[in-house]
Amino acid sequence: MSKKTMTLTDNATGRTAELPVHKGTAGPEVVDITRLYRDMGVFTFDPGFVATGSCRSSITYIDGDAGKLWYRGYPIEQLAEKSNYLEIAYLLLYGDLPVRQELENFENIIRHHTMINETLKSFFDGFHYNAHPMAIMVGVVGSLSAFYHDSIDIHNPRHREISAHRMIAKMPTIAAASYKHNIGEPFIYPRNDLDYCANFLSMMFATPCEPYEPDPIAVKAVNLLFILHADHEQNASTSTVRLAGSSQANPFACIASGIASLWGPAHGGANEAVLDMLRQIGDVSNIDKYILKAKDPDDPFRLMGFGHRVYKNHDPRATIIRQICHEVLENIADTDNPMFELALRLEQVALEDEYFVERKLYPNVDFYSGIIYQALNIPATMFTVMFAIARTVGWVAHWMEMMDDPDQRIGRPRQIYTGAPQRDYVPLDKR
Ligand code: CMC
Repeated sequence: MSKKTMTLTDNATGRTAELPVHKGTAGPEVVDITRLYRDMGVFTFDPGFVATGSCRSSITYIDGDAGKLWYRGYPIEQLAEKSNYLEIAYLLLYGDLPVRQELENFENIIRHHTMINETLKSFFDGFHYNAHPMAIMVGVVGSLSAFYHDSIDIHNPRHREISAHRMIAKMPTIAAASYKHNIGEPFIYPRNDLDYCANFLSMMFATPCEPYEPDPIAVKAVNLLFILHADHEQNASTSTVRLAGSSQANPFACIASGIASLWGPAHGGANEAVLDMLRQIGDVSNIDKYILKAKDPDDPFRLMGFGHRVYKNHDPRATIIRQICHEVLENIADTDNPMFELALRLEQVALEDEYFVERKLYPNVDFYSGIIYQALNIPATMFTVMFAIARTVGWVAHWMEMMDDPDQRIGRPRQIYTGAPQRDYVPLDKR
């Protein structure tokens, strides 16, 4: 650990604090303020955690200014081109790329955990047929905690590992069942002869009436999108999982809290919101009008799929996705996709507009992911569910890392109290 410190002086009182400065493998230096309250009697204030690190992590690295994203040190561009989702899942969970035998064992374990308990199926019946699939996901994944509670000792690393395998394996099954419930079709059991992404497409689109073979281009596209969505360091949903887990809660309940956080349109819900926005814009002739709305501080309209808290140059995931968007649309969609044309034009107009340039607002991963999913016949309400399947391994890897961290403590931020000063209770008849 570095011995470098930073001295903080309160000019009013002359009190000082020597704050340790840490440096990770990459990234800027980090001032350690854990002793600040003890030494200076003050807290820090950072709503939205814009400048606050909450943990040490060796899983994912982002350099937002340079547009870099690494999983366990490997650049996302290389992984997207050469790897597959389950290998990435192994990498995120265990820290290194697997050798062949390790990968085969891992694939085998995941494949044999994909079924859900038959009684879990009855949970779906409690939801109205038109319930949003993300609402079903929050409920059903949370309910897994009832199936696996007494049997899990979260302080036992082997129990944690088994929970991780279960979550990664069962998430596609639950996700596909949410969709089948929506459209009133029977649930399709997992197929052990298919790989992770093909099996998911089979559970989504097969029916018991006829054979179904997933389109290899669709499998490739889902595999790529799952890789790009697999982890993204301390984003809102991952931080939610960590915070929930910091109280030593049941891991399935923690993942359900991550799904809830992901659902919002500022986070994973953006991919569904992008499609809604493109439909609302409707035609390239309306782009200027909507750009004006996005720039108007009094108008709540925002360009969905634009901007990112960390990426201020470009989102490397968006660059990769943009390239494959063409391939998927050319090979899968029957006709020219007007949404894609509209998206390209909107992107071009926004990238040349001073407002977006000044604020460093670039298309993010979800500007394109919905267009690809739509071409694969996945309905918009399932877009964020797809994100949740992919991100499960990230959430689980962070939960495992946190549970293994000897410095782990319950997460408990402080606040600036802005309520009434102390006052005395007044009996009801005297108010
Ligand atoms: N359209 C129009 N203006 C925007 C947008 C946008 N999409 N995003 C940010 N701005 C403006 C914002 O109004 C503010 O302007 P000003 O300085 O004049 O007040 C400035 O840019 C900074 O915005 P911010 O809200 O302070 O930035 P943030 O870091 O808190 O928010 C964000 C990041 C992603 C929530 C936001 O950019 C946004 O809402 N984007 C649209 C939703 C979206 O695409 N989310 C997906 C994120 S990527 C997937 C994931 O990993 O979850």
